[in-house]
Formats: sequence, C-alpha cells, structure tokens
Amino acid sequence: MSDSVSRRTFIQTTAAATAAFALHGGVRASGSDVIRVGVIGCGGRGTGAARDCLRGSDGVELVALGDLAPDRLARCRAELAKAAQADPAFAARLKVTDDRCFTGFDAYQKVLAADVDFVILASPPFFRPAHLAAAVAAGKHVFAEKPVAVDSAGIRSVLETYRLAKQKGLAIGVGTQRRHQAEYLATLERIQGGAIGTVLSGQVFWNQGGLWNLERQPDWTDAEWQIRNWLYFTWLSGDHIVEQHVHNIDVANWVIGAHPVKAIGTGGRQVRTDPKFGHIYDHFAIDFEYPSGARVLSMSRQMQGTRGRIGEHFIGTKGIAEMKNEGSAEIRGANAWAWQRPGTRINPYVQEHTDLVASIRAGKPLNELETVAQSTLTAIMGREAAYTGQEITWDEALNADLDLTPPQVGYGPLAVPPVPMPGQTKLSRRFTE
Ligand SMILES: NC(=O)c1ccc[n+]([C@@H]2O[C@H](COP(=O)([O-])OP(=O)(O)OC[C@H]3O[C@@H](n4cnc5c(N)ncnc54)[C@H](O)[C@@H]3O)[C@@H](O)[C@H]2O)c1
Repeated sequence: MSDSVSRRTFIQTTAAATAAFALHGGVRASGSDVIRVGVIGCGGRGTGAARDCLRGSDGVELVALGDLAPDRLARCRAELAKAAQADPAFAARLKVTDDRCFTGFDAYQKVLAADVDFVILASPPFFRPAHLAAAVAAGKHVFAEKPVAVDSAGIRSVLETYRLAKQKGLAIGVGTQRRHQAEYLATLERIQGGAIGTVLSGQVFWNQGGLWNLERQPDWTDAEWQIRNWLYFTWLSGDHIVEQHVHNIDVANWVIGAHPVKAIGTGGRQVRTDPKFGHIYDHFAIDFEYPSGARVLSMSRQMQGTRGRIGEHFIGTKGIAEMKNEGSAEIRGANAWAWQRPGTRINPYVQEHTDLVASIRAGKPLNELETVAQSTLTAIMGREAAYTGQEITWDEALNADLDLTPPQVGYGPLAVPPVPMPGQTKLSRRFTE
C-alpha cells in the first residue's frame, strides 16, 4: 500500500480485504485448541494486552504482530522478549517470527491473513471501526481496546460489525476492564439487587494532570506527527472525554442500566494551548439525562498541577455507592457495605482476557461490542454537547453526518483541524470543519 491513499480508496481497500477474508474466515478455537493470537497496534497497550492475554489462559500463543511504525513494532518485540527471559512459561507461548511481523497502514490485513484465530486491536481509536470490520469479516475473535470509534459514522460501522459477529458466533471483548474487576462486580451486584434503591443521580470523574507528548522529528510528515501524537487530535482519539473518560461513563450506563437520552455540557482549551497539543480540549463538564430522569454529571480534565480524581459516585433512594480508582468501593446507607481487599488482587487487565478466552472455549462467546459502542457514543454525545454548545440527543448523536476521517489516510501533508468553538461548531461536520 502506498504511503497515502484517498478516503475512497481506504474504504474500498478495507471492503475488498474484508470480502477476501470472509472467504477464508472460519471460526476456530473452541474446546482445547491452541488459540493463535495476533496484535494490531503494538504500542504501550497492545504490548500490555498481548502479555495479559498470554498470562490469562493456557493454550494461547502469540504468533503475529502488526504496527504502522517499524520502531514501535521493534520496541514491542524487545519488551516481549524481556518478559520471556524472566518467565519460561511466558517464553513457551511467545511464537512470533520475523515473517509474521508486519508494518505500514496495511499491517492489519497481513496479521489477519497470518493464520491467527484471535486478534488484539490496540491502534489509536480512529482505526478501530475499520480494523474491527476486517477482523470480523475474516472470522477472527477479537479483543478491542476502548474507545471503539471517534464519531457517529464509526459508531454505525461498529454496530454493524457487532451484528455480524453475533451471526458468526465470534467473541469480542472490549478493554473496559472495570467490567471484569472484582470490586466493581461486587458493587454492581449489590446495586442491581436494590442496595441503594432507585438511582437518582451520579457523578463520574476522570481528572488528571498532563500526558506524554512526542517532539516532532524533522522527517515526520504532518500526518505522521499527528498519528504519533494521536491523543491530541479528535479524529484519532475522540478527545480525552472519549479516549479516557469513557471508562467512567461506561460505569454510569452499567449502573443505571441504560444509555442517556440527551446531554448538555461545557468544555474548553484553557491551559494546554500550545500547538504541540493539537486541537483538543483540556476540560469537559457534561450533564447526561437518562430515560428514568436520572442525571449524571461527568467531569474530565487533563491539566498539569491540578487535583486528580478518577471514579464514580451514585445516589439512590436508599443509599450511596462509591467506587474509587485506588481499588476501593463502598455502599453507604441502609445496606452499608465496603469492599474488603483480598490478599491477592486479580489484575482486571488479565481477567478480561481470561473471561474472553474461557467464553470462546465454552462455545458461549462474549460480545461486549454493542455495550461499549453505546458507552463510546455517550462520550461522543457529551463531547459534541460541549464542542457545539447545543443540547444533543442520543438519536442526533447516533444519526449525525459526523465523520472525522481526513481527506487522505496516510503519511503526507495534513492541516490540524480547528479548535471546536461552541455556538459555531456543527454536529454534522467533516475533518476540516
Ligand atoms: N483499557 C485501558 O485502560 C487502556 C489503557 C491505555 C490505552 N488504552 C487504549 O489502547 C489504545 C492504544 O493506546 P496506547 O496507549 O497503546 O497508545 P500507543 O501510542 O502507545 O500505541 C499505539 C500504537 O498503534 C500504532 N498504530 C498507529 N496507527 C496504526 C495503524 N493504522 N495500524 C496499526 N498500528 C497503528 C502506533 O504506531 C503505536 O505503536 C487506545 O485506544 C487507548 O485508548 C486503553
């Protein structure tokens, strides 16, 4: 594939690859078969998820790696080799060979064609809908990192992929690890059993300091600079309300048992104004309204030197539930309870892979894609309420002509989209608007 393809060619190539893979796609890996895993997007999380997957179950082997950037792929291989040196059981499951390592924009197609049963998708979120569609068309089980899309067009694609995966009996786990984390499961069991009564309102937070930023190198084109610093561009990350805070928004939808019907909100770019930080906001505050009338305040901030808080808090007619990122959870009120930390903590990043592989082996494939597509769309709805300054309904967010795909998907010149301006930015818009 050339360095740069037009938007139409990108979509056509994906569709053609998808059709070709569909011919070869067969659902394997049930019972005691070895599950052969490939990773697409071998950065921090892709490498971590590969480790977690191999540690989470017996009979799982890592056989193929694909990444856009050769240096990132090499770094991943070096880290996995280091882990193998320290752990012979891990080494026995690491079966990546040079001829199954692929780079470039089409690396995902090559991983899918490399005789794998299961793929881990951990590139920047913009690529997720296309990678998911190709993986499911090829008949592969999937672990996809969150969020699963950045815009309405991506969500619609992912929902279609969800339906196809259900038809084919494929498993799709998504990296909202709180859904596999013991203290969350114990708290949700109590909430769903009525411990806090009817939930009236909640507050969910992801407030933190700054994050990494890579200095632009002379040989990087505009697009390479943006893709390497993907956090700071809405087309790639969805902005931090979608990229990070989706975790806590997902918990709100889980606790309330529904997705919101509308959102209003505010946000801006107050501290992180240097062009090296792209065009995203550094803070959001959103009011989500649910079908029952319950309201959830969502607050997310990335500002150096500010107070951190990550967690969720819900107020019901009989009590209050609170989950904090440090691994504590409690219920206050009539049915008071507190999570007792066990002697050995099960790592939820490993547990989510254990659960996914067990579901494949049992012939009862987990499919979390629709649920996390809804949580991702909730976050997009909140982002758009802040970007546009308007009230945004669920149906508007789902059906909007909002497609942030750049005119060329590839390395080359690419102007940074404008900073969204409430009162001016429209919900239905394209990359340059
Ligand atoms: N569940 C969690 O708690 C958690 C934690 C961290 C990150 N994540 C998610 O994981 C994903 C990756 O984040 P990260 O921290 O690993 O970022 P990263 O920058 O470390 O890694 C991204 C990798 O994807 C590669 N890449 C870019 N475009 C690609 C393409 N088209 N095809 C193949 N590879 C491509 C990059 O070269 C890089 O190696 C994001 O969606 C992020 O939100 C989830």
